[in-house]
Amino acid sequence: MTTEALTGELLTAIDVACTPEALEAVRVAALGKSGSITLLMKSLGSMEPDARLQAAPAFQALREAVAGALQAKKSAMDSAALEARLATERLDLSLPAAASPRGSVHPISQVMDELSEIFADMGFAVAEGPEIEDDWHNFTALNIPPEHPARAMHDTFYVRREDGEGQRPEPTGDHTRMVLRTHTSPVQIRTMTGEKPPIRIIAPGRVYRSDSDATHTPMFHQIEGMVIDRGIHLGHLKWTLETFLKAFFERDDIALRLRPSYFPFTEPSVEVDVGYSIVNGSRVIGGSEGWMEVLGSGMVHPRVIANCGLDPDVWQGFAFGTGVDRLAMLKYGMDDLRAFFDADLRWLRHYGFSALDVPTLSGGVGA
Ligand code: PHE
Repeated sequence: MTTEALTGELLTAIDVACTPEALEAVRVAALGKSGSITLLMKSLGSMEPDARLQAAPAFQALREAVAGALQAKKSAMDSAALEARLATERLDLSLPAAASPRGSVHPISQVMDELSEIFADMGFAVAEGPEIEDDWHNFTALNIPPEHPARAMHDTFYVRREDGEGQRPEPTGDHTRMVLRTHTSPVQIRTMTGEKPPIRIIAPGRVYRSDSDATHTPMFHQIEGMVIDRGIHLGHLKWTLETFLKAFFERDDIALRLRPSYFPFTEPSVEVDVGYSIVNGSRVIGGSEGWMEVLGSGMVHPRVIANCGLDPDVWQGFAFGTGVDRLAMLKYGMDDLRAFFDADLRWLRHYGFSALDVPTLSGGVGA
């Protein structure tokens, strides 16, 4: 067979090969150990020098043409295979997910996020304390000594520790007697004993009292606020509460009424009412047709400041505390506190918030 005829035959075979295996068979038949081209190249060795000079360029051209065609066909096959694989592995990321998300943010979490956002803007950090608290932090340090009548109002849950024998000795000292904290005020003590003033904190969290009806649950949520600095007075407290309530209820016509009151840990103590109007038979915050109590507050008692090791002649401050659940009920119109803790999906779907609506001051904290 002439070199031309062999070239034609091999190129045709490469052309018609339609699987990698068929192409490999053509390669072996041409360029393998005893392939046709290999044998031709070997035959050069036994030729006369003149004949060899004549034949060699044609053989080499043949080998290059065939090797080139094999290579081209192989990469065409590889990229076709890749295309096919990519086509089967294709994911359309623009398709909506099969199920729409079902969960929602609980109104209490929502309100806590709103409050943190509002107070962060005023420079308050978030502080925390334990829910199982010792008597000293929950009561004594807050100027409520063991025989104080205010203790009776707190419906306290006491916690007993077991000793090694399984005995339950009645603890006596106020540092060892444990309670479920009845308010977030012990976080005032923990912050003042643990940090150096100036201090600006809020402390949202769970509190416990043995009480249960439409407006009371044994566990509920409070948020505490406290500022300790030099020269702090009641005006700072009033401005802070006004700014907070306007931002929280998202209205400028918030009217506040400060009434003298009593808490053992503040002096003077002030109870704060917020004005409401009647719209279509229901109460709406804003205006002053009626008043609702929303928080307790006052100037931190000098004795409390001293109990924390600070000099009350140098440091003054104010504190306030309010129910987070109650704020949520007022803002979002729920009327039974117990529903907050029933885990009823229908209620959660109705009153819950989208996880993607993060409260921001610019976007509206209750958006
Ligand atoms: N701890 C008080 C309560 O639970 C609220 C309060 C906090 C009052 C801070 C004054 C200052 O009722």
